[in-house]
Order: sequence, then C-alpha cells, then structure tokens
Amino acid sequence: MSLIVVNEIKKLRELVRDYRKQGKTIALVPTMGCLHNGHKSLMEKAHSVADVTVASVFVNPIQFCPGEDYDRYPRTLEADKIVAESAGLDIIFAPSVNEMYPNLQKFSDLTMVTPPYELTDIMCGKSRVGHFDGVETVVTKLFNIVQPDFACFGMKDIQQLFLIKKMVADLNFPIEIIPCPLVREDDGLALSSRNKYLSETDRKLALSLSKALFAIRDFFKAGITDTKKLFDTGLTNLDKNVELEYLEFVDFDTFKPVDSVSHNTICAMAAKVGNVRLIDNIVLEV
Ligand code: PAJ
Repeated sequence: MSLIVVNEIKKLRELVRDYRKQGKTIALVPTMGCLHNGHKSLMEKAHSVADVTVASVFVNPIQFCPGEDYDRYPRTLEADKIVAESAGLDIIFAPSVNEMYPNLQKFSDLTMVTPPYELTDIMCGKSRVGHFDGVETVVTKLFNIVQPDFACFGMKDIQQLFLIKKMVADLNFPIEIIPCPLVREDDGLALSSRNKYLSETDRKLALSLSKALFAIRDFFKAGITDTKKLFDTGLTNLDKNVELEYLEFVDFDTFKPVDSVSHNTICAMAAKVGNVRLIDNIVLEV
C-alpha cells in the first residue's frame, strides 16, 4: 500500500471504516510533523503491531502557551511524507486548524480534557500552564477520529506519555498505548523537531543536557541514590550558559517526586539553550 495523505475527518473515517470491515487493526502515531528518526521509530513500531498505520501531522494551537513558538513551529509536510513512507506508514492525517477546531473564536469556548492538577503542577506542566489540557484534548479528538487499536508515544515526552496512559485508563479508551524508547543522535542529543532552531554554537551547548543526565546515571550506577546528590552532579555537568528550568526525579509508576531512588525513577530535565527550550530524560533502573 502506498502512502495516502488525508486532510478531512470525514474522508479519514471512511477509510478507517473500510479497513475495519476487512478485519484490519489500526495503529496511530500522533505528531506535530517536522518528522525525524524519533518519530520514524514510533511509526516502525506501529507498523510492527498493526495492519494499518496512521500518523497525524498537526501543529495543535491549543497546546502552545502565549509567547511560545506556535507560529514558527516548522511545517514540513513534503519532507514528512518521505520519512513516513520510509517507515512503511499507510496514511498521514494532516487536517487544517479549521478542520480540527471549526469556527473556534477562542480556546476557552472548547470542551477540554484536563489532567489532574497535581500531575501537571510539576515538570513541563509547571511552566507550560494549560499545555497538557491542549495535548489531552487533541489526542482525545484524534482517538475519536481514527479509533485506533494501538497508539504509539515516545518516552522523549515522558510526562505526556504518563498523562496519556492515565487518561486512557481513566476514560476507558479501548486503545493500547505503546511507549517507545527515546531516540538520540550519536553524540547523545535527544532528537527533537525544535533542534532545527539551534545555531551551530547552541547545538554544541545543547549536548550539555544529555551529558548532565548521563553523569547522573553514572553516579547512580556507582551506588548514589540520594536525589539531592544526584541533582548536584547534574548541575555540575551542565554548561553555565544553559538555563536550567527543572531537573526532577519522579517515580516511574506514580510520577511522584522521590528523595531516594529505590524503584525505577525518571530523571527529567528542561533547559533553555539560547531561546530554545529543550527537554530530555533518562530512567534510573533499579
Ligand atoms: P511531537 O513533538 O511531534 O512528538 C510526536 C511523538 O514523537 C511523541 O510521542 C514524542 O514523544 C515522540 N518523539 C519525539 N521525539 C522523540 C525522540 N527523540 N525519541 C522518541 N520519540 C520521540 O508530542 C507531540 O508531538 C504532541 O504533543 C502530540 C502528542 C502530537 C499532540 O499534539
């Protein structure tokens, strides 16, 4: 099957209905486009579990906070098609903003899906107020439009993955969420569509995030479990020109902050390199 690009919800539903009649299973990979090898790994995973693979490419306005990069977020559909095709994807769903949010005057007019406050008042949710409401709302819409059996999400956005898994459980979506490993460049930088914004100098500075996380992992492997000490190691290894937003340690299963690593723990970080906000994380495995 060769790749099809669909812009309309109605058309997508017709296609999906036909596949379902044929007894085929469907996997969805939600994205905002500007696809890289991280996205591609999700598509390959989707391809391996389902008969039909769909990726959405939609820069979702309601998950951007005022002053963020919504307007300049890279939109590269032609290049995205090539990546998608090489991953064996069947359908790209690339709706317009009006198709997803018809006649929306203001976002506060919309019915939203809101994750629990205590899970968003940490890490990315703390500085990006309302961001995860926007994510959960668009993902709910995509789930209702595509009605997939499986949906693949990357561990790169670890808080997003946790919240989506919880949403699916809390709201009884009949969808299996498949977590996919974080993909890095050879030198350690986590792949991100926002890496495109980095100048050559900032690209070098950005390596400091993974360097700090790897130093934490080495220290942990050497037997240090106190997260204050691990935090200090991270800070020591972070370049002074990188502006740390957070470096947090949370339990892998509950997302509650931990003082000592006694279960699998996520060590997650957000930092600004120049004016580019980047995130990264590692799992400290016990
Ligand atoms: P986007 O940033 O395009 O990411 C789409 C998916 O790709 C997410 O599940 C993300 O975790 C995964 N991904 C990105 N970089 C990755 C990497 N280096 N390794 C592994 N996976 C990676 O996340 C979003 O879009 C949006 O919030 C979305 C869920 C589409 C809702 O609008």
